[in-house]
Amino acid sequence: MIGPHSYRLFVNPRWGTPGVVVLPEGGFRRAQEEITSWPGYAPTPLRELPPQGFARLAYKDEAERFGLGSFKALGGAYAVLRVVLAELARRGIRTTAASLLAHPRPLDITLTCATDGNHGRSVAWGAQRLGARCVIFVHEGVSQGRREAIAAYGAEVREVPGNYDDAVREAARQAEAHGWHVVSDTSYPGYTEIPREVMQGYRLMAEEALDQLGEPPTHVFIQGGVGGVAAAVSVQLRARRVPAKLVVVEPEAAACLLASAEAGKPTSIPGELPTLMAGLACGEPSLLAWQELERAAHAFMAVPDAAAVEAMRALRALGIVAGESAVAGLVGALLAGRDGALGLGPESRVLVFGTEGATDPVLYEQLTAA
Ligand SMILES: Cc1ncc(COP(=O)(O)O)c(C=O)c1O
Repeated sequence: MIGPHSYRLFVNPRWGTPGVVVLPEGGFRRAQEEITSWPGYAPTPLRELPPQGFARLAYKDEAERFGLGSFKALGGAYAVLRVVLAELARRGIRTTAASLLAHPRPLDITLTCATDGNHGRSVAWGAQRLGARCVIFVHEGVSQGRREAIAAYGAEVREVPGNYDDAVREAARQAEAHGWHVVSDTSYPGYTEIPREVMQGYRLMAEEALDQLGEPPTHVFIQGGVGGVAAAVSVQLRARRVPAKLVVVEPEAAACLLASAEAGKPTSIPGELPTLMAGLACGEPSLLAWQELERAAHAFMAVPDAAAVEAMRALRALGIVAGESAVAGLVGALLAGRDGALGLGPESRVLVFGTEGATDPVLYEQLTAA
């Protein structure tokens, strides 16, 4: 599907050592029950790709998730609901998610977050569905198309100088100053409960994929930004007792999880993080995600942008729409598979997650047009 490319691979020496429970089962059951009850819920398709020398290459296609175009619809919007219910309870207002969703009314509650695009869209959608206000912080590199997609859900979009991590800090500062609620997809010391709910929502994607696969995978490749979705997939594999090797794949220019694995501790990459894979352009690992991945990820990879563009084109030729941040896992599987690394071979059943569709249609056309 793609030509040869150089890549970095680090096999995790701490793989399999016992650690803390990052996402308790009760929280997942609650998220699953809630999200599967939303109007428009349906499992996204699992597509069989030409197996590329493996026994099977399955692609979980998130392009149509709730009409938002990415798996992030599962996390931010769910956490928004939890935050709003908690805030209303604090004010002595007892209600339920079902009643709020059925009868949205203007709420004097403001949600905020930083985003590369997809998380902000999910938070804005979640807030609009409930009648809450929403302010989303984007860094300079977030495309116009992605800003407009967020604003279309009624959110105010504000630009912050710097990169994603600078926008995270600005959202936290503004929330503190105005009494807003931060619904972040990344966690840091002192801020873990809401990102935990976000990640519980993501687990549903892995749960569906494992149901759809039937025979369990031997290898799972998942792209990493701050690591939240990779950690959620990891937890779900363990919850289902699937002993697959989990490989986290990042862009070459923003491989903070790989750098953390090499250093044996959370490690940041400062600066501009120049990668096309906008959703993965994160320089600081999420604390919770790191607590899971530091011992549960079998390996970490970093792959070049050029390989991602080739994979997007190859998928398009197969009738599958995949955005720039959707294909790093697939690229990792193809490059490692070609070299027979990580025990990959003709017996391998490989699962990858296509985490977004054309979330910026103009850019998608530019990158994939023949
Ligand atoms: C399409 C897509 N895939 C993967 C990711 C990575 O998720 P995380 O930051 O939880 O690692 C993102 C994050 O924005 C994304 O938008």
